[in-house]
Amino acid sequence: ATKYRPFVAVDLPDRQWPSRRIETPPQWCAVDLRDGNQALIDPMDQERKQRLFDLLVKIGFKQIEVGFPSASQTDFDFVRSLIEEDKVPDDVRIQVLTQARPHLIDRTFEALKGAKNAIVHVYNATDPVFRRVVFNVDKPECIQIAVDATTLIREHMTAAPETHWTFQYSPELFSTTEMDFAVEIVDAVEAAFGATAESPMIVNLPATVECATPNNYADQVEWFCRHIRHRDHLIVSVHPHNDRGTGVAAAELAVMGGADRVEGCLFGNGERTGNVDLVTLAMNLYTQGVHPGLDFSNITPIMREVEYCNQLPVHPRHPYVGDLVFTAFSGSHQDAIKKGMAARREAENDFWEVPYLPIDPLDVGRSYEAVIRVNSQSGKGGISYLLEQEHGIELPRRLSIEFSQVVQEVADRLGKEITSQMIYQAFVDEYLDQH
Ligand code: KIV
Ligand code: ZN
Repeated sequence: ATKYRPFVAVDLPDRQWPSRRIETPPQWCAVDLRDGNQALIDPMDQERKQRLFDLLVKIGFKQIEVGFPSASQTDFDFVRSLIEEDKVPDDVRIQVLTQARPHLIDRTFEALKGAKNAIVHVYNATDPVFRRVVFNVDKPECIQIAVDATTLIREHMTAAPETHWTFQYSPELFSTTEMDFAVEIVDAVEAAFGATAESPMIVNLPATVECATPNNYADQVEWFCRHIRHRDHLIVSVHPHNDRGTGVAAAELAVMGGADRVEGCLFGNGERTGNVDLVTLAMNLYTQGVHPGLDFSNITPIMREVEYCNQLPVHPRHPYVGDLVFTAFSGSHQDAIKKGMAARREAENDFWEVPYLPIDPLDVGRSYEAVIRVNSQSGKGGISYLLEQEHGIELPRRLSIEFSQVVQEVADRLGKEITSQMIYQAFVDEYLDQH
């Protein structure tokens, strides 16, 4: 049961509406410890990595990309400590990234020795500019690099049957690769690995640099799903970056277009403008009545822990979670919220129908006290709400109008936000005294 009604536009009688909706959550993979980490000014040390890993587990992530062990000694040591100190729950798969180069693949498997569950994620760039300018390879050579890497990875996996392995391939820069070539290379990789419907591989389709409107990416993912030889041998994953600021929309549309899985970071950390923000994605599902399977019911400690690990602040207007998102400064908003809260107390159902607040702050562990703040722009609604809720003083309408003028004068004089304690003090000092 959910208190959020899925949004339906009721006034489009000539349209089937909504055209599509996400009914079940995708698989989630958190890449904070790899893509997120490689974009930090001050990359995480072991302690910060471990704290973020533990947090991701606690939130409910079952697939976590923990590093790039063949490229970084810190990541290698971190993977070893996770395995040797038995820090990975049985139902969590750790994922590691490697380039499609033999010595790096060998080193990756060294890092993973003794793991219970692991995803080996290999990538090579498939986009034409990278083929021509960066690597100087033609299409067949590009396919050969991917196939050779896959064959070597299969050999390593076969040689270590004590680990439950999953294989993942990313055609890096998928969204700027010719689509028929993306299909051709993934078909070749899938055949080389020998994926089956019972034992599928993950194919991850990155928008490494987001450079088109999000519907375009979703169209590419949908086209890919239709044209790939064995769709049922694949778990199709998306990996949107946020260069145009539309990473969340891209991921949502891509899931509607057929993707099964989403890779991203908490609060949108990641290269340049970030990876897609998994908190917003999850909460968007939640407010449409679909439980995301991730627990953000106490968001503030999560946000503070991530700020510590990344050494980066979360924006105060970040959707659902920022410090300012459950505040209303304007009088008309405060008044409408107050009426909505009162109506909710009287209502017989549990639906959330409070104006201006898209969700109940309590659902992310935020308190009602923070909902209404008062400054010189506020009207009587917020002022009497705070007086009533926090100090048990209920003013009749005429007095409430008079008193709000007193508070506004105080706010104007001080030029800053007024706390409920200051409102109470103003009531005692400046109002009661004179009446
Ligand atoms: O953005 C990207 O293309 C990546 C790949 C390595 C998956 O992070
Ligand atoms: Zn990335």
